Amino acid sequence: MEERIRISERVENIIEEYVAKGDFAHQTLSFVRKVLAPESAGEVRVAGNELKRYDMQYRYDHTLRVAEIGRKIAREEGLSEEALVMGCLLHDVGYPECGSFEELGKHSAYGAEIAKRFLGKIGYDRAMSESICKAVLIHDRSPYEGEDATVFEKSVRDADDIDRADAMRICIQVYHDIGECPAWETKELCVKRLAEIKDLKGRICGTKTAKCLWLENLHLREEFYQRLLSQMERTREW
Ligand SMILES: [Fe+2]
Ligand SMILES: [Fe+2]
Repeated sequence: MEERIRISERVENIIEEYVAKGDFAHQTLSFVRKVLAPESAGEVRVAGNELKRYDMQYRYDHTLRVAEIGRKIAREEGLSEEALVMGCLLHDVGYPECGSFEELGKHSAYGAEIAKRFLGKIGYDRAMSESICKAVLIHDRSPYEGEDATVFEKSVRDADDIDRADAMRICIQVYHDIGECPAWETKELCVKRLAEIKDLKGRICGTKTAKCLWLENLHLREEFYQRLLSQMERTREW
C-alpha cells in the first residue's frame, strides 16, 4: 500500500489562506513563491543541518527557468502552455517538506500532494490537474521506453532535466567536484564526466523540442569538460 503523504501545517495554512489573484499561471507562481519563500530561505529550511541558506533560493530560481523551458516546449509542440507552465512551477514545491537530507527523494510525492490541494483550491480543470499531479510525481524518475505517461507529463520532467544540464549545473558540479583539485585529479574527473555525458545523450525525451534542448545543453557541457581536460593535459613539467 502506498504511504499516505501528510503535508506540513505551514503549507496547509498557505493553501487555506490563499486568495486567488490574476490568471491561473500567475496564481501558481505566487503560490510557489510563498511555499519556497526564497527571500527567507533560512527560516523555512527544515531539511537537516546539511542544507544551506540559499537552497530554497536556488530551488526557486531553478523553478522559474524550468517554467520558461516548459513554455517553449508547449509552444513548439502544441501542448497547453498554461498547464505546462503550471506543472513546471509546481514540480519542486515539495522540497521544504523534506525533514532530512535522506528525505529529499520524497520531494516529488510531497509536491504532488501539495499540487493536488492547491489546484483544487483554485478550481483548476480536474483532468488537467490530475495530469499536473502525475507529472510532479514522476518528474524525478528516469524515463524509459513504453512508460505509462503522456507527452504532457513527460514534458515537465524534460524541462526539469534540461535546466539541470545547463550552465548553472556545470558551475555547481565544478564547485563540488573540482574545487582546488590538482591537475591529475581534475583530469580523471573530466574523463568520468565526459563518459557520463556520452550516456546521457541517449536519454528518452517526450518531444523532439525537448530532445534538441537537451542535446544542446549536453553539448555545452561536453565542450567545457573537453576544454578543461585539454588544459589539464597541458599542465606538465618540461
Ligand atoms: Fe525535483
Ligand atoms: Fe527540479
